Amino acid sequence: MYDFDKIIERSGTNAYKLDLREKYFGTDDLVPLWVADMDFAAPPEVQDAIKSRAAHEIYGYTIRKDEFTDAIVDWCSYKHQWNIKNDWIEYSPGVVPALVFSVLAFSNPGDGVIINTPVYPPFYSVIADNDRKVIKNVLVNNNGRYEIDYDLLEQQAADKSTKLFLLCSPHNPVGRVWSEEELLKIQTICQKHNVLVLADEIHSDLALFNNKHIPFASISDDAAQNSISFMAPSKTFNIAGFSTSYVVAANPTLLEAYRKVQNRLQLHMGHLFSGVALTAAYNLGRDWLKELTAYLEGNILFVEEFLRENLPELSFFRPEATYLIWINFKDWGLSQKQLRQFMANEAKVGLNDGVSFGMEGAGYMRMNVASPRATLEKALNQIVEARTKQNV
Ligand SMILES: Cc1ncc(COP(=O)(O)O)c(C=O)c1O
Repeated sequence: MYDFDKIIERSGTNAYKLDLREKYFGTDDLVPLWVADMDFAAPPEVQDAIKSRAAHEIYGYTIRKDEFTDAIVDWCSYKHQWNIKNDWIEYSPGVVPALVFSVLAFSNPGDGVIINTPVYPPFYSVIADNDRKVIKNVLVNNNGRYEIDYDLLEQQAADKSTKLFLLCSPHNPVGRVWSEEELLKIQTICQKHNVLVLADEIHSDLALFNNKHIPFASISDDAAQNSISFMAPSKTFNIAGFSTSYVVAANPTLLEAYRKVQNRLQLHMGHLFSGVALTAAYNLGRDWLKELTAYLEGNILFVEEFLRENLPELSFFRPEATYLIWINFKDWGLSQKQLRQFMANEAKVGLNDGVSFGMEGAGYMRMNVASPRATLEKALNQIVEARTKQNV
């Protein structure tokens, strides 16, 4: 029903992915497969809702009524079999801002916050820019499949200055969907040492290949009481340009403390279109998401097959969620700077530099495959051609 093969011209829309190429890569002449948004049209149902609201000519102060939280409650039940209540939910202007508010609400300067590295770069700044200490629980790489080092986690959580664990679930960039067993281990350790879990689940709707995302807070009552979940339809439905995020906390004390910071910073109002977009996406976007999921899986299998045939020395763990592929280039034997230069200047493909996710990312780059297949094919062919030239 939906055409994900359609190539849509994004120039002229001030898209981060296109218009910051010059700044980040030194050239705008490259296929942009970096920033995590999609080159696909948002669901027509969302477009219609936005257009319909935009057609009314007054854009004044706007509130979110019960339909906003009702849509979230229904979605969490439908998508994750997670039964939450309307009064567990608070709007947030973005997942990253909400993480900052939580760091401010639940820790003090100098306190430690654990993260599983390599990880989404703002996880570092959310902690360090607010004068908290980044505690790196480096993921263990088992042939491309990353796992958590629980002995290290226990040691780190036991430190009295450690107050928070910022969990990326599913994980960007390594593509893991954490199993119930893994989440229970995290919860047991964090509970024992009074470490609050901040569960960034922005990629939760994009579990692929029959993997099942389990909301951290859903694994037990203790987990629900000892965590805050951060979610949004922004990645799922390609509507990151609107502020559509929210937090869920079953523990009223935590929710109140979160709200206090957000209100103190006067960031509770949000955007007129946020409620319109979220409600339309969650209430009307189910079929679209099913088709998107199949298309993304097809893209991942396409890249896998292409690399196997043309560049078999490159490898990646097939992501269990997200449209982001964490590619291992180590066999090329290039320094990170050489790899970066090769990709931008020779292949002319814009990928995220592995070390921007932490030093553990050396030898890796992240590819965003949420583009029409023809765009991916073009980018991959450019990499092969540039590599062939380099080797001659
Ligand atoms: C793990 C993770 N959290 C948060 C975000 C962004 O959230 P927001 O745009 O709502 O601040 C991203 C975007 O890529 C992400 O990967």
